[in-house]
Amino acid sequence: MNALLRVLSLPAVFLSKIPGLAPVVRACSTSVGQKFLMAITGLSLIGFLVVHLAGNLQLFAGEAVFNAYAEKLHSLGPLLGIAEVGLFATFAAHIGLAISTASMNKLARKSSYALKETKQGLFILPAGGASSWMMVTGLLIFGFLVIHIMDLKLKKGFGVDYTAAMNADNEAVNSFQAVKAVLSHPVHAGIYFVCLIALGIHLSHGIRSALQTLGLHHKNWNFALRTLGFVMAWGIAGGFISLIVWALGSKS
Ligand code: HEM
Repeated sequence: MNALLRVLSLPAVFLSKIPGLAPVVRACSTSVGQKFLMAITGLSLIGFLVVHLAGNLQLFAGEAVFNAYAEKLHSLGPLLGIAEVGLFATFAAHIGLAISTASMNKLARKSSYALKETKQGLFILPAGGASSWMMVTGLLIFGFLVIHIMDLKLKKGFGVDYTAAMNADNEAVNSFQAVKAVLSHPVHAGIYFVCLIALGIHLSHGIRSALQTLGLHHKNWNFALRTLGFVMAWGIAGGFISLIVWALGSKS
């Protein structure tokens, strides 16, 4: 555990060497600072998911519309590259902070609680409490991301037949057909479905928790904030799941 914490602290050690940054790094290294950064990175990733979902919902508009959208995205060239680096850095920071805060909490706590429950979501999560569920669902989302990048970024999904998406040079250029090939593959559809349910659970606690960390906490607003987190989380997860249903339904 100590070795893991030492590895995770390397970026902070490096940044603290930059003149003027040491006090900022010190503030961000406290458990409060780490929670704050987790909230900011988490909400940024939700911003990405909303944009990503909006783009992918254009699948419903048909092949020409979706491919025009995908082409427009790719025509951004170096700008897209910069956005991708930022996105992956945000994912990496969020995951690193999650491991770091969980390890710090574990080290700080001499013995585990016999029963952990949370009332922060709209419902009480069973044994293990929200933080354990956040770890499990977070790991599933990480696993999903690895498979998803292979499937749709690199077009190398295991067992997926990308023939309909290929051009004469055997390059997968038709994004609409590539998505359809992946989402209509029963194993991939199953994996995506399970991981998107995990995403819904993760976000429904995460949104509420991030807003609370950022100070949005008042007894008069708490029900509204909990409901907002729940609706946003399942709106995002449900939106992605609707694409699986569409792909399986339109399988020719
Ligand atoms: C049914 C659900 C989804 C579909 C159909 C879908 C579709 C796509 C497509 C077509 C791409 C490739 C974009 C390109 O050509 O560069 C992509 C990339 C990506 N997707 Fe998804 N996506 C889904 C769900 C998700 C979810 C839930 C996440 C995050 C948890 C996610 C994260 C990403 C990331 C990080 C990339 C790489 C972005 C980049 O490098 O440009 N996707 N997705």
